[in-house]
Amino acid sequence: MPDNLTIKDNRTGKEYAIPITNDTIRAMDLRQIKVSDDDFGMMSYDPAFMNTASCQSKITFIDGDKGILRYRGYPIEQVAEKCTYLEVAYLVLHGELPTKTQLDEWVHNITYHTMIHENIKKFMDGFNHDAHPMGMLVSTLAALSTYYPDSKNIQDAESRKLQIYRLIGKIPTIAAYAYRHTLGLPYVYPDNELSYTGNFLSMLYKMAEPKYKVNPVLERALDVLFILHADHEQNCSANTMRSIGSSQADPFVSMAGAAAALYGPLHGGANEQVLRMLREIGSKDKVPEFIKKVKSGEGGRLMGFGHRIYKNYDPRAKIIKDTAEKVFEVTGRNPLLDIAVELERIALEDEYFVKRKLYPNVDFYSGIIYEAMGFPTAAFTVLFAIPRTSGWLAQWQEMLLDPDQKIARPRQVFLGYDKRDFVAMEKRK
Ligand code: CMC
Repeated sequence: MPDNLTIKDNRTGKEYAIPITNDTIRAMDLRQIKVSDDDFGMMSYDPAFMNTASCQSKITFIDGDKGILRYRGYPIEQVAEKCTYLEVAYLVLHGELPTKTQLDEWVHNITYHTMIHENIKKFMDGFNHDAHPMGMLVSTLAALSTYYPDSKNIQDAESRKLQIYRLIGKIPTIAAYAYRHTLGLPYVYPDNELSYTGNFLSMLYKMAEPKYKVNPVLERALDVLFILHADHEQNCSANTMRSIGSSQADPFVSMAGAAAALYGPLHGGANEQVLRMLREIGSKDKVPEFIKKVKSGEGGRLMGFGHRIYKNYDPRAKIIKDTAEKVFEVTGRNPLLDIAVELERIALEDEYFVKRKLYPNVDFYSGIIYEAMGFPTAAFTVLFAIPRTSGWLAQWQEMLLDPDQKIARPRQVFLGYDKRDFVAMEKRK
């Protein structure tokens, strides 16, 4: 079987054999298709990257039709059951599961980079009490760039390693400080004796007690949620991280950009919107009416439903639903779960959703658990950003080391005016 694609240009009658590699053709190979020598050549037009691979990657595999998600080949169900988040972060970044020695060293290095500069506290104090936690996170990540000018050495493997420890280590601290700032509570310093999620809970909720007692069920549930959010291949924020990083900007500002992309309600901001939607619906019996409004276009979208890649149940949503039951044994049942389950039941039977293959995504159930664990709704997207740090950094590093990559710079199809002469002010209509 020839591994090329024949394209016939009916404008000229010419045929072109375009090589096929890994089931793809290179868009640059289209450039030779021209009607004349001074023709720029053919381009592909693909708004929103619906069918364009922007990179080759070995990190995360998704089969959206079958509902499969794997990190470096390992099924999400297995890593969620057997690993800790930091073990998964190591896997995502390094490509292999760590040995015991490698894991110990990794955890040690991240744990010893959890502190943030005292001036960052002052910087965060400048935010209004009602500042959105994602706004605080995005700005503080960018501000960190000013504290670590060495992070500009992006070609230096040792420097990249250090920035990776810093970013994974510090992001829970920034998130917790943002939370405490909103409540006007004093900041709690990291406790190096606790696990990654245990320390995060301590920085959030510790009051006057000398040592915060972490509930092991909640600690593990949060760890599982973090594992599920570690990476998700070329989504909007990963693409932003790669795109900013491709200009050789440092990883702190690149990650501020990625976090900003995550903030949007169609991406990571959806978990916050799901909770607002469930509260607005109010009770199970109002679900059919709400679905009707969504279908007619009056009620906005059913948040937490649908995905660009998954045309089947998001495997992460399944694990989150199971985790919810364990959390509720400790916290008590979140009554919003009943509304969510009813929404899911009705939507999965409704022709509108079935035809469009709209299933619950990762954000549909996560907010319900976060709320039961005491997190304010506005903080939910921050809980997505913390674990996604490892994915963003893995995508960033892979991009930097890929000889195929250059500064990201798409083309456009220009449909504006052709050349025209300047019009003086008095002659303008
Ligand atoms: N509720 C109602 N209709 C929907 C929904 C929804 N949640 N999602 C898609 N549709 C409809 C959409 O109106 C369109 O219908 P039609 O063909 O009649 O115009 C069709 O389904 C295809 O939608 P699309 O907007 O072309 O699909 P997309 O791949 O561009 O969008 C999405 C994917 C995730 C942005 C979208 O499904 C959505 O807005 N979902 C709600 C927000 C959400 O839950 N986001 C979290 C995504 S998962 C976590 C993450 O990646 O951050």
